[in-house]
Amino acid sequence: MTEPSAALTDAPPNSPGAHGLENLLSEERRFPPSAEFAAQANATADTYAWANADRTGFWADQARELLTWSTPFTQTLDWSDAPFARWFADGRLNAAYNAVDRHVEEGRGDRVALHFEGEGGDTRTLTYADLQREVSRAANAMTTLGVRTGDRVAIYLPLIPEAVVTMLACARIGAPHSVVFGGFSAEALSSRILDAEAKLVVTADGGFRRGKPSALKPAVDEALAKGAPSVAHVLVVRRTGQSVEWTPDRDVWWHDAVEAASPEHTPVDVDAEHPLFILYTSGTTGKPKGIFHTTGGYLTQAAYTHLNVFDLKPETDVYWCTADVGWITGHTYVVYGPLLNGATQVIYEGTPDTPHRGRWWEIVQKYGVTILYTAPTAIRTCMKWGEEIPSNFDLSSLRVLGSVGEPINPEAWMWYRRVIGADRTPVVDTWWQTETGAIMISPLPGVTAAKPGSAQVPLPGIAADVVDDDAQPVPNGGGGYLVLTEPWPSMLRGIWGDPERYKDTYWSRFKGIYFAGDGAKKDDDGDIWLLGRVDDVMNVSGHRLSTTEIESALVSHPWVAEAAVVGATDETTGQAVVAFVILRSDVVEGNAADAATVQETLRTHVAKEIGPIAKPRQILVVAELPKTRSGKIMRRLLRDVAEHRQVGDSTTLADSSVMDLIAQGLATPV
Ligand code: PRX
Repeated sequence: MTEPSAALTDAPPNSPGAHGLENLLSEERRFPPSAEFAAQANATADTYAWANADRTGFWADQARELLTWSTPFTQTLDWSDAPFARWFADGRLNAAYNAVDRHVEEGRGDRVALHFEGEGGDTRTLTYADLQREVSRAANAMTTLGVRTGDRVAIYLPLIPEAVVTMLACARIGAPHSVVFGGFSAEALSSRILDAEAKLVVTADGGFRRGKPSALKPAVDEALAKGAPSVAHVLVVRRTGQSVEWTPDRDVWWHDAVEAASPEHTPVDVDAEHPLFILYTSGTTGKPKGIFHTTGGYLTQAAYTHLNVFDLKPETDVYWCTADVGWITGHTYVVYGPLLNGATQVIYEGTPDTPHRGRWWEIVQKYGVTILYTAPTAIRTCMKWGEEIPSNFDLSSLRVLGSVGEPINPEAWMWYRRVIGADRTPVVDTWWQTETGAIMISPLPGVTAAKPGSAQVPLPGIAADVVDDDAQPVPNGGGGYLVLTEPWPSMLRGIWGDPERYKDTYWSRFKGIYFAGDGAKKDDDGDIWLLGRVDDVMNVSGHRLSTTEIESALVSHPWVAEAAVVGATDETTGQAVVAFVILRSDVVEGNAADAATVQETLRTHVAKEIGPIAKPRQILVVAELPKTRSGKIMRRLLRDVAEHRQVGDSTTLADSSVMDLIAQGLATPV
């Protein structure tokens, strides 16, 4: 068996790579699909052979079959300017037409597209015909507000139907959207608006969160007050009814502009390579990356994966993906994938425990949900709450369960299948990223004998491998870096405004192949097990956070001289943020603050700078940080401290007494 490389031993310790990997690889349980499920499944085993024989031809067939093109393409992949891919480049189409109008034209207008469940129990049902009218109205209103094809629109909304409608209205006029998760701060929103030079911001007065209205509009006001010359208007949905500050001429109510607009609108056809959206994600530096996706290739893989990985039957299934549209999962598996396939789906605004811990299961029962797609962190939370809670509801409608966002430990996988899936439903563990746009590695529910904890195999048409430091594929049983060795239709087309960073980040570690940033192992069957990130990116509750970004937020506070952040294992959230800070000497000497005040002040500061999801679980005040002679912080040692482990090899430290100092310092209050 190949030894993991040095970088891999630095893998986040929550990942199976650091602990229990051997347990994982000796995981013997297998769950082949039942004969009954396999017989009705959309995907069959021969799809792999078909796709392997002609990978680009396979995707071209999918693009023709799953999408409607106003101008059919004649070219499939142009990789001549690698790593900048062009798929189906001479074809033209419209994303919103494909997601909405064609279903109406083909007689599916009465099918429910969205069952919306508000946190407070208010509901709305939108059929495909309703959606066509709403999206057309919104597109007309946005056009009246000056948005043109190619302009960017920032969206900062709760998970309400208007979020889906706005994204589709942007797609309808060819204006790339940039959705900013409603939990991000004014600061984070401002940097994203500026980077994308958004012309319009669509927001709401607020949304409902844990039984209370939670304001959004003030963050937009604050973000724009920092200066945003590109923004002409703010379109505001009234959701909670809370009072809002109003800037006349700039701010416009949705119910004035959209409801008055015509429900007729002609979708704008765009080139297959026209940008569909930008979505910012954390990288290894402090500055979030604007990952951008284009139209034809992205939609092809969104539709294909949604149909086959979840075995969707659009006429009978009720699908529910619990992600917010602020994340890539919400883009591909709430908006584009399901709607392209004409699915009926549930969207839920609130948290799983409002007003009680059975809320999700109540929703499954109420709508007869058949396919559920969620994150391991949610599953582990439900495990903690106890299985009697879901057992009080009728979950017998469920037939496929999906997991995404972080490695799922075999016990959570087993619990998901046994308690939620009645020991009957296939579970698909789907690996992918904001950058990949759609699922890349996953079992197929009617084909693959599932292994708890493994994403297993690249999908048909996808080429992935695990390689060593020299880019050589590791043998079965070996560990290394996960790479994608061939371009795929929904791959990112770049980082908005920064082509060099795109090449550096993804294509420079191994020449000519895409490096995903994850460590992985191949088991004896060649199946892939994901081990977590090998870079300075943390994964908290399935959300990517950058250590550097949180460190910059901390040092922007006047009390902080230096900061180092690590992701420490957390039973529920996978990883949790733990920060080590050196306070400025005047704060320490003046004894200005006790440990509790420091913790609280700095946690609140991070929430303000980035958003509540980035709040450190713990902040430890130290006198020194462990650094190598070249000045690089040795996070590995800090992780040992954060996880109460014996501190590992510290011989490369510039000053080897630092770890003792940290240990002593931790025992001494500020
Ligand atoms: O580390 C991998 C982890 O999440 C990262 C991508 O994060 P993001 O772009 O925010 O997208 C999350 C939703 C697609 C990956 O680099 N990850 C995602 N899915 C899995 C996973 N790790 C293990 N198993 C998965 N199924």
